[in-house]
Amino acid sequence: MSQIALPYFAKGEVVKGFGRGSRELGCPTANYPEDVVKKLPNEIECGVYFGVASVDKGEVHDMVLSIGYNPFYNGTVRTMETHVLHTFENDFYGKELRVVLLGFIRPQIKFNSLEEFKQKLREDIAYASNELQKPEYVKYKNDSFFTD
Ligand SMILES: Cc1cc2nc3c(=O)[nH]c(=O)nc-3n(C[C@H](O)[C@H](O)[C@H](O)COP(=O)(O)O)c2cc1C
Repeated sequence: MSQIALPYFAKGEVVKGFGRGSRELGCPTANYPEDVVKKLPNEIECGVYFGVASVDKGEVHDMVLSIGYNPFYNGTVRTMETHVLHTFENDFYGKELRVVLLGFIRPQIKFNSLEEFKQKLREDIAYASNELQKPEYVKYKNDSFFTD
């Protein structure tokens, strides 16, 4: 069960992905380098999660995060990508991203079309935004992990 290892705290520098997130999906993602992905415990299975995140010790925002091989793109490398639910002025390559994974949404899917994928992303974000209003999750925005 994926929930056993939650909450899961991670931090690391944002590196460049393929750029498909913003270009094709309208869902920009911040990618972690391999060392951060390798540290994931076995209990954290591939899939889509919700949680909270900050960039360079800034404000803590809601986020959705995907872990896996991105089957829609026939990926061969396991990646860990965060979509912060906030509009930023600039991209944040090279900046420090801190995330807390709080809940599992679903496994990764190999969608039949880009439209299906985009529709599911909208549903993921709606589900996450609703869950993250619960006090048991809101409290993580004030966790010392974000200020240490
Ligand atoms: C909320 C969310 C859900 C995702 N779900 C899937 C999925 O079900 N299947 C999949 O192949 N990739 C999924 N991804 C990963 C995307 O394929 C990946 O973020 C996108 O290709 C951008 O990658 P890039 O930053 O390397 O360009 C998801 C990403 C996010 C942020």
